[in-house]
Amino acid sequence: MFYPEEIIEEVRQRNDIVDIIGSYVKLKKTGSNYMGLCPFHNEKSPSFSVSGQKQMYHCFGCGVGGNVFTFLMEYENFTFVEAIKYLADRCGMQLPEVAQSEENRKQADLRNQILEINKEAAKFYVYQLHNEIGSIGLQYLKGRALTEETIRKFGLGFASKNGGLYAYLKQKGYQDQILRETGLFTLDESKGVRDKFWNRVMYPIMDKNSKVIGFGGRVMGDGKPKYLNSPETKVFDKSRNLYGLQVARTARTQSIILCEGYMDVIAMHQAGFTNAVASLGTAFTGLQANLLKRYAEEILLLYDSDSAGVKAALRAIPILKEAGLRAKVVQLKPYKDPDEFIKALGPEAFQERLDHALNSFYFEIQVLEQSYNMQDPEEKTKFYNEMAKKLLQFSEEIERNNYIEAMAQQYRISYEDLKKLVHRYGAQMVVAPDYNNREQKHAIKQKEEDSIKASQKILLTWLLEDVSLFDKVRKVLNLEDFREEPFHTVAAMVFQQYDAEGRVEPAKIINHFQSKEEQSLVASMFNKSLGQEYSRMEMERALNETVYRIKKESLDYKMSHCVDMQEIQSLIKEQAELQKLHISLSNGA
Ligand code: UTP
Ligand code: MN
Repeated sequence: MFYPEEIIEEVRQRNDIVDIIGSYVKLKKTGSNYMGLCPFHNEKSPSFSVSGQKQMYHCFGCGVGGNVFTFLMEYENFTFVEAIKYLADRCGMQLPEVAQSEENRKQADLRNQILEINKEAAKFYVYQLHNEIGSIGLQYLKGRALTEETIRKFGLGFASKNGGLYAYLKQKGYQDQILRETGLFTLDESKGVRDKFWNRVMYPIMDKNSKVIGFGGRVMGDGKPKYLNSPETKVFDKSRNLYGLQVARTARTQSIILCEGYMDVIAMHQAGFTNAVASLGTAFTGLQANLLKRYAEEILLLYDSDSAGVKAALRAIPILKEAGLRAKVVQLKPYKDPDEFIKALGPEAFQERLDHALNSFYFEIQVLEQSYNMQDPEEKTKFYNEMAKKLLQFSEEIERNNYIEAMAQQYRISYEDLKKLVHRYGAQMVVAPDYNNREQKHAIKQKEEDSIKASQKILLTWLLEDVSLFDKVRKVLNLEDFREEPFHTVAAMVFQQYDAEGRVEPAKIINHFQSKEEQSLVASMFNKSLGQEYSRMEMERALNETVYRIKKESLDYKMSHCVDMQEIQSLIKEQAELQKLHISLSNGA
């Protein structure tokens, strides 16, 4: 990146939003807009609107919105650059080569070469699986009830006892130097370069864009280790990839299933649960949680039902919560893992278990309970105390009380008693010095910042709604008064477009932002019409208050950062003038 803004704008203009969205969503013309069922949340009557005139979309149900780039980023999970490339391609536009530093280019070349070799290797393994030499591999997979289609879909292959990959790639012309970077070979002093994987069924590991970044290999028979995985390379970072994500990300389900093994993922996909992924033989990480957050709001944990699986689930829950995801735990007992469960009881029974997934808090309490002897009054008391401490993790009072109620019911203790216990621990936390104080100060400051942001946002929304406000507001506010991003940038673009053309083109402004989140936030400014909710008098008062707040905050800020005497005097004058602020909504005022 980065493409010049004119190019981005040209790509946008040459791809009509109604055409693009119309190819994904059935749209019906109503008045000047098009309406359809929102692809981003479940609904039965259409609240998803696409405007050809504004070149924007907005859902009145779930609040998403943006321009043609935002849509593709949301729907296809493209990055901003991917969306630009895709649309340029679609309208036959040639994008300029983006200048890169020599070092960047070298790194990119290296990565591309490793990816290319991985792809060759995957093809080689597939070829072997379907030949005489790989018959035991194929037999193994068939024995595990995988269909031809599944084997193909996951690109499964076979590395024979004789190896052969090294010779194959050499014959294709690859040099040792680059082959060493792939992690597919080991260098042995006496025996030279050898294939790392042999006598194993091979599972190519892909990134979210279906590029092969590494492999997992399952040994035939009882050799050790049972699964051998590629080491980390320039293209394979285990902490930020998940097995199966290339398929699961397109499942568009509300939740994603997180499990332990390659075979679990594959068995679930084959049974129709195409939203399953696994972490790659390592502990689940925050980076993986953030990755999942792009595709789902809820994670169903399906770890093995042994003690290691329980431990792994307990470790994953706070990581998921930290990323803002809801976590639930699915019980598979008496079966060991999803693969075994589905084989034994079939997809319907499996679905039922998913439907009865245990909210992660209940799961944590359930596990906690098991470490106490509930027949012993003393231990039981300890358990209640621990539970009370855990209940404090809910900072919202209503939510906390709901959980207190649920726990009281489940363990047949009085709601009031449990609540008292929780509050006692809560009070202890409050007197804990410093920590809380700092938190509180931070919270107050945050609130102030949020409210000034809200004012800036609302004012921009009004300006966009009603062009006639422009000149009036500009007499009081200038660009500097919009200090917060993205509002400063939006204001700058709005002012500039208004000065140049006397009107504002929202979709063009959205181009300027590169993340879905920013685009969606900016888009939301163009889709509220507050005018309808207010009478004119109320509107006038609200407008004056908002402008006043923004100006006051801006002047206060300048004042506290100003050292020049003359400037201070002029700020004082401005402050005095602000007290007289009156913007009238009647014409001519
Ligand atoms: P399991 O041993 O539970 O795998 O390890 P599984 O799927 O039940 O194996 P099968 O059914 O006997 O073939 C779960 C995951 O842990 C990692 C792998 O990612 C595996 O899928 N693992 C396991 C390793 O990385 N190395 C090992 O030696 C074992
Ligand atoms: Mn298994």
